Order: sequence, then C-alpha cells, then structure tokens
Amino acid sequence: MTAAAGFPDCPSFAGRVIAWQEANGRHDLPWQQTRDAYRIWLSEIMLQQTQVQTVLPYYARFLLRFPTLEALAAAPLDSVLELWSGLGYYARARNLHRCAQTVVAERAGTFSADPIENAGLPGIGRSTAAAISVFAFARRAAILDGNVKRVLARCFAVEDAGSTAAGERALWALAESLLPDSRIESYTQGMMDLGATVCKRRKPACDACPLREICAAWRDGRQAELPRRLPARTLPERASSVLLLTDGRCVLLERRPPVGIWGGLLTLPEGGADAAEVFALRHGCRLRSMRTLAPVSHSFSHFRLTLTVLCCEVDERRPVAAQAFREWLPLADVARAALPAPIRKLLLALPRGA
Ligand code: ADE
Repeated sequence: MTAAAGFPDCPSFAGRVIAWQEANGRHDLPWQQTRDAYRIWLSEIMLQQTQVQTVLPYYARFLLRFPTLEALAAAPLDSVLELWSGLGYYARARNLHRCAQTVVAERAGTFSADPIENAGLPGIGRSTAAAISVFAFARRAAILDGNVKRVLARCFAVEDAGSTAAGERALWALAESLLPDSRIESYTQGMMDLGATVCKRRKPACDACPLREICAAWRDGRQAELPRRLPARTLPERASSVLLLTDGRCVLLERRPPVGIWGGLLTLPEGGADAAEVFALRHGCRLRSMRTLAPVSHSFSHFRLTLTVLCCEVDERRPVAAQAFREWLPLADVARAALPAPIRKLLLALPRGA
C-alpha cells in the first residue's frame, strides 16, 4: 500500500475494517447471499440515496416480478415505475430499465467484471461500478459513497471532503490507497456498514468503532465538524394548483412526460378553480361540488413544491374520446399504480363511493 498524497500511510486501516466487518458487520442482507451481478446491480441502484430498511421490501417485490435482467429489459417502463413507486428518485428506475436494455442488446446480457466497462452505463457511476465488481466478481476496486466519504473524512481529517473537486479527487486517491490485497468483499461491506451503523453523521458510536485509535476526528474531538458540510441551501419554492376529479370510484390522472420530475408517473392534472368546469365537461362529466383540500408539499433535490389540490366531485361520467395521456384510474388500484408517494397518500385518504 502506498499512502495517498498528503495522507499518512496507514497499514492497519483495512485490517481493522475487515476484522470488524467479519465479527460485527451485516451478513444477512439479501444481496449478500448472491454473486449474481443482476441482483447486486439492482441492490446498488436501489441503495443509492435510500436506506437499507426502506429498500428491503422493494427489492424482494422487484425480483419476484423481474427475476432476470432479460425479464426487466423486456418489460414496459410503466411496470418498472409501478414497482418503484414510493422509492423516489425515479430517474433511477428509468436508468435501470435503459441499462437492462443496453446490457441485453449490446453486451450479451452480462455485466463486465471490470468497473471501467460498467461505469457510464445508465445510472452507473464510478462508485456503483466498483461495488458491482467487488460483490459480484471479487474484483479489487474502491467505492466512495456518502457513508464512506464520512468515514474517510473523519479518520484522515480531510478538510474539504466532497465540497470541492480537489477534495473529491483527494478522497478517491485515499480510498484507492487503502484497499486491501485480499478479502475485498469484507472490506467494502465493512466500509458501508461502518458508515451506516457506527460512523453516523449525528452521534457517531465511536466506542464501537474499530478505527477509533487511528481516527484524527476522534483524537481531536472533531466528529461533529467533519466532514464539513456545505452551507445549507434553502430550496426554492414552487407552487401549483391541481385538479382531483373523482366520481367516488375513479380519479382522473395524467401521465407525466418521460423526463423531468415524476417522469413517466401518473399524477393529477394541473389547473385551478376557473378551469375545473370546462375540464370536467371535456372529460365527459358534470361538476357537482368543489372544495380545496389541505395542500400537499414535497421536496425534490432542487426545489420544494406545494400543490393546492382542488377536489372536484363529478357525476354522469360519460365516455369521451380517450386522451392518450389521461386516464380514469379506479380508486381501488391506487395502491399499486405508478404514482408519486405524496399523490398516492392523498388518494388513499379519499373516501370511496359505491
Ligand atoms: N449501500 C450501498 N450498497 C450497500 C450494500 N451492498 N449493503 C448495504 N448498504 C449499502
């Protein structure tokens, strides 16, 4: 092992992580019971930005429906989005589907053992590519997700970890320099487990940490300060009005364009009180009553959205020429349709008519 520029050589780092993981780390996660690159890739995509406990039921349902890469590639995007709905960050699901199709069409249905070949496929960045190579092929490769950045930033007092391009480069060089020559799976899982369960952002459990004796943040009491966080950005606010047309049995929904927020999902059509009557007529029904529901707020990565929801009870729903991007969804199907989580919650709370 050669020390990364500016960091001390630390021969015991990987040994400590490996011994700790094998004795105290997580061993029962479903994606740890396989070497199937498809299953490992799927877990790594679901685990981007999402915690293990949330991912577990989605992962199980997804594999029941799509047991192979070929099954996923052959499925319509909508059925992938349905299984993803509630997990958030839907670009992941669209990329997952595109990636499956690319690997089937252009790579004979197999992921490479080499992280460089997988990085750049839709949704696969450098760290995810490395995790696939480690867990499916026992290849020696460095990961650097948010948890691992925190462990390294504290242990080695990396002052600008993740906040500048130079800090990011330094962390990658450090992560590469610390890799062990063997037991790469235990080491990689150990780094993930340490970050998730011991070296937590708030209240790290330093008493249980195998790196404590070599940790600069522990030595100097700087755990709360490292990694330095960028100043909190207040999210810009956006507001919009949406119409919830229902006859008590069905609700009128609109499919979002494939890219952008909630891309490909079903949501409520935009419109205000002035548009409601005409809108109802155009969809073959008569407006009976109208009331404003409690607003729905949702934070995206770049803005916060507040929706004013106008609940319009309609009757005499007559068939009209179908509009390809609008559909009446039975309220009974709300639980399994491809809906954004806050819209599903709102619809599940509606009283159901006969
Ligand atoms: N987060 C990202 N990858 C993970 C994995 N393989 N196990 C647990 N948490 C993870």
